[in-house]
Amino acid sequence: MDDVPNFETVKIERDGGTTFLILNRPEKKNAMSPQMHIDMCAALDWAEDDEATKVVVLTGAGGNFCAGQDLKLFFRATEDDPKARRRSRRAAHEWRWNKLVAFPKATIAMVPGYCFGGGFTPVIACDFAIAAEDATFGLSEVNWGIIPGGLVAWAVTQVMNYRDALYYSVTGEKFSGATAAQMKFVNKAVPNDRLREETMVLARALEAKSPAAVRYTKEAIRTVRGMSKEQALDFLDCKNDALIAADPERGRGKALSQFLDDKSFKPGHGSFERTT
Ligand code: ACO
Repeated sequence: MDDVPNFETVKIERDGGTTFLILNRPEKKNAMSPQMHIDMCAALDWAEDDEATKVVVLTGAGGNFCAGQDLKLFFRATEDDPKARRRSRRAAHEWRWNKLVAFPKATIAMVPGYCFGGGFTPVIACDFAIAAEDATFGLSEVNWGIIPGGLVAWAVTQVMNYRDALYYSVTGEKFSGATAAQMKFVNKAVPNDRLREETMVLARALEAKSPAAVRYTKEAIRTVRGMSKEQALDFLDCKNDALIAADPERGRGKALSQFLDDKSFKPGHGSFERTT
């Protein structure tokens, strides 16, 4: 496709308003090399600015999500090169957490096959996660003598309860996509052959929403988690006013008049009719 950029280790595909960013080293189960971190930083920057992209789906090529950091290229190859190591770590953190968490459009992690170690961080940083029931998750770091570093340990405690986080980090025991859904580590698990279809159902629903409302809602949910009730109340009032003032679609006004005057929509059943 000629209107999307090419990267060595990340493939980009469009499906309507949804853009797939695909970790693309299938022969290495999509283990993350330093180049992949650089490519993902650039791919997310591109998707953020790309007007046709309303929703981003992050996934992996060849039937697996990601086998974690590339043990050869990310770790061993930079052992004696502190500068290269620092650069790789910075890029790794930048896209797997900072860019994804602050991404202004909805993001969905679609997880087939293996997801190990450092591959957990972007799953958690995405707004939503849908796994294949038979996907295999593993915090395998303990199995080769390290801790879930690079923010993984912190990230898992954002979405797993304390017992599960300790259990799976300390034992290194694998768990399935179905178990991940039971733990609410992912939103849901579906049969592998329906993974894309089910992900697209969510993506299409998100595409139809007001982009400004989606963005401000994401930001609000994320930010209030670290606030007191009093701070949250004040922040959310300001945030709502900011949304009403900044929304190019003027969604709130439209929704009010469609509900109150035209009686053409009910917010309990879906979004107001968008004309832009
Ligand atoms: N780093 C580097 N290379 C990897 C990685 C990795 N994390 N994972 C897989 N590969 C490579 C394999 O070495 C192999 O390369 P080769 O063809 O040159 O020999 C290729 O990918 C295919 O992998 P296989 O092991 O042959 O595939 P298999 O289906 O038998 O096993 C599995 C897949 C279970 C994912 C296995 O490769 C594995 O355990 N990988 C390591 C997973 C892991 O612990 N990741 C966490 C790393 S730590 C961290 O992220 C902080």
